[in-house]
Amino acid sequence: MMNHSQSTGADYNYTIVRQFALTTVLWGIVGMAVGVLIAAQLIWPQLNFETPWLTFSRLRPLHTNAVIFAFGTSALFATSYYVVQRTCQIRLFAPKLAAFTFWGWQAVIIAAAITLPMGFTQGKEYAELEWPIDIAITVIWVCYAIVFFGTIAKRTTSHIYVANWFFGAFIITVAVLHIVNSMAVPVSLFKSYSLYSGAVDAMVQWWYGHNAVGFLLTAGFLGMMYYFVPKQAGRPVYSYRLSIVHFWALIALYIWAGPHHLHYTALPDWTQSLGMVMSLILFAPSWGGMINGIMTLSGAWHKLRTDPVLRFLVVSLSFYGMSTFEGPMMAIKTVNALSHYTDWTVGHVHSGALGWVAMVSIGSLYHLVPVLFNQGRMYSTSLVNVHFWLATIGTVLYIVSMWISGVMQGLMWRAVNSDGTLTYSFVESLEASYPFYFVRFLGGCFFLTGMLIMAYNVLRTVKAPKDSLPALAEA
Ligand code: HEM
Ligand code: HEM
Repeated sequence: MMNHSQSTGADYNYTIVRQFALTTVLWGIVGMAVGVLIAAQLIWPQLNFETPWLTFSRLRPLHTNAVIFAFGTSALFATSYYVVQRTCQIRLFAPKLAAFTFWGWQAVIIAAAITLPMGFTQGKEYAELEWPIDIAITVIWVCYAIVFFGTIAKRTTSHIYVANWFFGAFIITVAVLHIVNSMAVPVSLFKSYSLYSGAVDAMVQWWYGHNAVGFLLTAGFLGMMYYFVPKQAGRPVYSYRLSIVHFWALIALYIWAGPHHLHYTALPDWTQSLGMVMSLILFAPSWGGMINGIMTLSGAWHKLRTDPVLRFLVVSLSFYGMSTFEGPMMAIKTVNALSHYTDWTVGHVHSGALGWVAMVSIGSLYHLVPVLFNQGRMYSTSLVNVHFWLATIGTVLYIVSMWISGVMQGLMWRAVNSDGTLTYSFVESLEASYPFYFVRFLGGCFFLTGMLIMAYNVLRTVKAPKDSLPALAEA
């Protein structure tokens, strides 16, 4: 996979990759702008302007859906369609179906952007969309699977590069999760009731929720990592054998860990313990993958000095390592007793979401955009560098502030006086959180500003005359 030149683009279907790559930037800005707005609302609640569709409760799911399914998933569509063609050395199978996945996915995003602020929701986190949209998602996803696996089946190479294993697992598992968790009885066009009830409903929901993290926010992006890190570093992947062990261990373990979202609930105790143990074991393959990515830079470390794109990719791996250390720790029941319901969870989420998911996508796009638009590099490498620092500082501000406010909240809520009464009221803990909410808001502004700079840089690269931006000579 490392030896074919980047100039064979004419043989591949890049139209679909270009479309998804550009919409990734667009939806990233929209989703993160909503994130910044809801971060601001948590400090200044009057920013909802007493308008129902601008309230936090409606904009929060809009944020999560926009960043995960519009920004993150578009990045996965773009990179998987690119990587599967390059590594199988064949054009994309069923191009019309591929075009349908693009337009269909945009229609789903628009439908979500309209219905969520209107308050239509199934009330299941990350699966809020009502049943007609769920059916549309299923159809599009099946088409995606046909295009992806059809291309693999037609490949001209003998083996299937490991990135495609990760993309393939992500596509299959997300289909299964989505179909099982979205089973519902419709009562009208915009209202349905889950087929499951009580503790079973909760279990199914978090089996879905956790594996959306495991397979969409992790496995898919690992596929991205296994292609773009070696490409950008100009080195083969550190250990191909480790990548295979990494793959099988990761997918075998993730699927059991869901109950760590439901510690101390009505869920049978043994399922909670099973979820905890599986989460702890999950640390090993997660770090195996991270080490495999970082060690790919062996012999190429000096490139970090001059290549901000590589910096994005390496720092994303560091945040991946950090969040997959933190996650197993938070899955321990006694730790979860402190962290659950607090901002610690939100901090953990964004160390994965901003540090890992967004940074690896941004790095991959900075590699991809020049290739897709016949250039040797982005319009401005110094703007990529500015973006790198804004994203890194923004992420650190976000997660450190949430760690502090989260642990503080947990400790304040459990503090008791000698007579057994609570030391602090809930409102006191909220008051104490405000400074940290402000720092989080600031971090979000940093991250969003970086995305706006990226949009400018991408537009200038797209508009530049063909081949007018030669690759920089290596330092
Ligand atoms: C500018 C960047 C961002 C800002 C300012 C931001 C802000 C926020 C805020 C304020 C919340 C609500 C927290 C609460 O309810 O207390 C939230 C939740 C969430 N955000 Fe973001 N966000 C950003 C980027 C992202 C990205 C890129 C992703 C995913 C790829 C993401 C995924 C999530 C998720 C999954 C939740 C729900 C967390 C939970 O339920 O524990 N965010 N975000
Ligand atoms: C070994 C890997 C990981 C483990 C074991 C793990 C474990 C956990 C635990 C224990 C929680 C808190 C559950 C609660 O108290 O409600 C959690 C929440 C969460 N984690 Fe992770 N985590 C891992 C990696 C990641 C990564 C890489 C991401 C993102 C890219 C991520 C995204 C999330 C999200 C979105 C939530 C919030 C769910 C919600 O309540 O809405 N996790 N994780």
